[in-house]
Amino acid sequence: MASRANYRLFWQEFRRTFHSTGAVLPSGSRLCRALTRYVAGDGLPRRVLEVGPGTGVVTDQIILQMGARDTLDLVEVNDRFVAALRDRLEHDPRWQSVADRVAIHHLPVEQLSTDRPFDAIVSCLPFNNFPAELVRSILAHLEGLAAEDATLSFFEYIGVRKAKALVASREERRRLEGITQVLADLLRQHALRRDCVLANIPPAWVHHVKFATQHPTPNTQHPTPDT
Ligand SMILES: C[S@@+](CC[C@H](N)C(=O)[O-])C[C@H]1O[C@@H](n2cnc3c(N)ncnc32)[C@H](O)[C@@H]1O
Repeated sequence: MASRANYRLFWQEFRRTFHSTGAVLPSGSRLCRALTRYVAGDGLPRRVLEVGPGTGVVTDQIILQMGARDTLDLVEVNDRFVAALRDRLEHDPRWQSVADRVAIHHLPVEQLSTDRPFDAIVSCLPFNNFPAELVRSILAHLEGLAAEDATLSFFEYIGVRKAKALVASREERRRLEGITQVLADLLRQHALRRDCVLANIPPAWVHHVKFATQHPTPNTQHPTPDT
């Protein structure tokens, strides 16, 4: 759960860097739980990646679910959020207990590389603020970072693209349609399940996909992204 100071920081960053922060408030606890549905494994060591941890509310949930040999990589582009995450790793007792297995990368996820792929990826990126081509390339990059059968969980606020499109310029509408198309392509190939989280401000869909390159999901009724 976010502390008062972290709420304040999030609000400041929303105003200062709206484009990359993309939300007024940190994710609520139900959204955090839905996003971390596939983090816990069956006892084998797992490598978990969280993209866009912000002040660390989803990270709290990930840490709760980490097994004794799991590792967690956090990649965050905003320097103030990175400072807050480092502070939590140093001073928050629950975070301290896993600190030797947590790495914080201060860079855009597009620049993250790894020599060992990740088993579970949780992304909190505000895709609706990005150009469609950037969303496509980030998703391709995440797939490249993923182990076979790895999951990717990410959210989108319900109805936001549709609402924005009502008042958008033609160019902006084209961008939003492009994002819908990119997400539809991803879900058509890899959808695993979708959770509806109404108890969040704003309510959100959580999409879970599985990068099963050798065993495509036999999912004929895949969920569609929110338009
Ligand atoms: C909607 S906020 C989510 C914060 C937090 N995980 C939560 O759920 O409340 C999006 C986060 O993604 C980060 N971010 C945006 N673009 C990014 C990028 N290209 N690479 C890494 N992090 C990015 C922002 O700085 C911000 O922390």
